[in-house]
Amino acid sequence: MKLLVTGGAGFIGANFILYWMKYHPEDHVVNLDSLTYAGNLENLITIEKHPHYSFIHGNICDPVVVEKAMQGVNMVVHFAAESHVDRSIMEPAAFIETNVTGTQVLLDGAVKAGIERFHHISTDEVFGALSLEETKKFSETTAYNPRSPYAASKAGSDHLVRAYHTTFGLPVTITNCSNNFGPFQFPEKFIPLAITNLLEEKKIPVYGDGLYVRDWLYVEDHCRAIDVVLQKGKIGETYCVGGVTEDLPAGRQGISNIEVVKKILRLLGKDDAMIEYVKDRPGHDRRYAVDWTKINRELGWKPEHNFDEWLGKTVTWYKENVFWWKDVKSGAYTSYYKKQYGGDK
Ligand code: NAD
Ligand code: DAU
Repeated sequence: MKLLVTGGAGFIGANFILYWMKYHPEDHVVNLDSLTYAGNLENLITIEKHPHYSFIHGNICDPVVVEKAMQGVNMVVHFAAESHVDRSIMEPAAFIETNVTGTQVLLDGAVKAGIERFHHISTDEVFGALSLEETKKFSETTAYNPRSPYAASKAGSDHLVRAYHTTFGLPVTITNCSNNFGPFQFPEKFIPLAITNLLEEKKIPVYGDGLYVRDWLYVEDHCRAIDVVLQKGKIGETYCVGGVTEDLPAGRQGISNIEVVKKILRLLGKDDAMIEYVKDRPGHDRRYAVDWTKINRELGWKPEHNFDEWLGKTVTWYKENVFWWKDVKSGAYTSYYKKQYGGDK
């Protein structure tokens, strides 16, 4: 089996390649990545010389590159995207280019190459926002209502994937998952930003009132969900993937951002003085929660990594891999940080 993984140098893509090569050592993996600010080949240093792994430095928007990359490939696992909501508010164009046009170019390439499975990685953000009061969760039947340029571009890509299944018979599957956390996450995202800021004695910027809720999914659980869908998923189907919720106190709809921050403060022995409330994100979605009943019932998957324990392990990973995030933070990210949060933090 030969897999083409797009965006394999990013956070989830790299975790997925490491996972796949561990659990499916007989397979060959090709990683197609243009190495934007978010792509980092250091994430894959442990397998870079593996005879079953190869890297193509290229853009998914380029049909020539895509055609070459698809040669001899059985399955495409499509992660490549612009993925940060705040950047999509600052500069939306790149999101349309990569997430919509790039996906269309890949789909054309997949049809031409007769790919056996095109698996598209999407997000729960396409469903919009839930309120803190309701108990509802997002599921496969929730209507699309994207509210940021990022979410709208991912919604566009989901529609294209389904349209290529209907129109051209491309064998597709889609997963819409919640917020991932774990090793190799770029420190512009909330959890690694909070951890690395504290490790640098900087405050944690908390948007608005800090009462926004996300459904936290440990990245390895996500990789396993994709594996299960690739092995047993039904062609043309969508599966929603979310995190562990059983250990939430009764009556609670999720963990708020400020609670996440307080957990990280405790893990690093810091106090509330390191919290800085900052201007809210425009159009900030209040709450996400994912109902993963379908993938559990039909394919037997459920998340196995609870939030508190794996947040602790994630903090330890960032403590032990300072070289990784210092390198990442010292690059182009510095100018983005100044633009987003102001000052010279
Ligand atoms: P990331 O930003 O860490 O990585 C994206 C990768 O894609 C990078 O390696 C980048 O270089 C590459 N890339 C970007 N544009 C490209 C292009 N035009 N051609 C080739 N490569 C390109 O993203 P992530 O957090 O790992 O997310 C991966 C996927 O999962 C995305 O599709 C995202 O929408 C989706 N997703 C992420 C989360 C999350 O919590 N991080 C949750 C749900 C869904
Ligand atoms: O839900 C899945 C989505 O999760 C993915 O599709 C996206 O690719 C991924 O970036 C993530 O989007 P969010 O916007 O939820 O993640 P982010 O880490 O940017 O923010 C998480 C929460 O923390 C959100 O409520 C905003 C808040 N936040 C974020 C940052 C960066 C802060 O309060 N301060 C910050 O500095």
